[in-house]
Amino acid sequence: MSLASVMRAEAALLVPTYDRYKVLLRKGRGVYVYDDAGRAYLDLLSGIGVNALGYGHPAIRKALLPQADKLIHVSNFFYHDYQAELAKRLTRLSGLDRAFFSNSGTEAWEAALKFARAHARTHSKNGAHPAWRILALEDSFHGRTFGSLSTTATAKYREPFEPLVPGVRFVRANDVRDLERKFDPTVCAVGIETIQGESGVKPVTREFLQAARGLATRYGALLIIDEIQCGLGRTGRWFAYQHHGILPDMLTVAKPLAAGLPLGALLTTDAVSRSIKPGMHGTTFGGGPLACAVAIAVIDTIEREGLLEHVGEVGEYFRQQLLELQDRHDSILEVRGCGLMLAAELDSADLAKAVHLGMLKRRIILNRTHDTVLRFLPPFILERKHVDHAIETLDAVMTSAEKSAKIPVPSHARSKQ
Ligand SMILES: Cc1ncc(COP(=O)(O)O)c(C=O)c1O
Repeated sequence: MSLASVMRAEAALLVPTYDRYKVLLRKGRGVYVYDDAGRAYLDLLSGIGVNALGYGHPAIRKALLPQADKLIHVSNFFYHDYQAELAKRLTRLSGLDRAFFSNSGTEAWEAALKFARAHARTHSKNGAHPAWRILALEDSFHGRTFGSLSTTATAKYREPFEPLVPGVRFVRANDVRDLERKFDPTVCAVGIETIQGESGVKPVTREFLQAARGLATRYGALLIIDEIQCGLGRTGRWFAYQHHGILPDMLTVAKPLAAGLPLGALLTTDAVSRSIKPGMHGTTFGGGPLACAVAIAVIDTIEREGLLEHVGEVGEYFRQQLLELQDRHDSILEVRGCGLMLAAELDSADLAKAVHLGMLKRRIILNRTHDTVLRFLPPFILERKHVDHAIETLDAVMTSAEKSAKIPVPSHARSKQ
């Protein structure tokens, strides 16, 4: 089917949840995806932070193809070879004790919220009402299902679906005083993205994370860290909280975990998991043999190929190039992030939109988030030469977009728009 006929068919048949770019993708290799005409696009978004090993990585093919032949799915009534193997790796890397596997990020986060409530119920004293409140951060994003949405701050995601799950209060990110003020014995958990992704790659400070850790411990509440976007190596360490010397009680991961197969994981402590009994929570698809076998290959490949060091090194090079670009463009207000989770905040939404689409026209894929922020979540196998090409193109696209933004539109032309 051609792009035009796919567009027509989707417009007639799909619920219009997405506003897609007019590109029909057919293939991927390395850091490139290819459209229906065989044109290559440099992918600096990697399927929104999913394709960490790029496209067509031999280690993924090697894990995927034979396993697809043997066993794709079994229910969670049965054992298979890979859940414990994957849990062994994830617990070793995170410092936590146990795993629950889901299909997506939002489901991992849902599990964390439910387990926090269950843990509080188990530990409520002398018939007192169990702690129930969950603290989340302003500008957070934890997913689209009701529990996750209730802890997601952005009004445009929440409002069409209200009322949401009760018991959530929002705290200003990086405002320790606000966190202290809102912490009390009714709080069962505080949930934090170590680097807020959707809201424009905003790192949470070490001071705030450490304060959250301390307050959670003091009140017997749980610290839940969401690394669905920033975890599993994207910042140059396995987990971004490891830059800050803290250990959460629960951790959620997903996006890059199974190289594009749907898989999420909630990692937690023995203490929390003691509150969960068989039947209390579960999933049909989560943690299937195919997804888990591939996830094991993802982790082993990141280790074998030294990709954490590579992400740190090429990410820092990318960040430096963005800072140099900022020197040439006053419209870049700030460069943020670390490793291969980077962003440039521009001074207007219109400019960011023009740059984003201008880059796509030049066949470089990035993403615009929070209206004004250009976000980069490239595959971990990105090289300096790709960064150079991206920065050179960005420089040219920004120069031209800034020029057109400055040309006043004549009033007669404006009224025709
Ligand atoms: C930090 C964070 N949490 C949760 C989610 C939800 O994950 P999913 O889309 O897999 O449900 C996302 C997705 O972008 C995310 O970035």
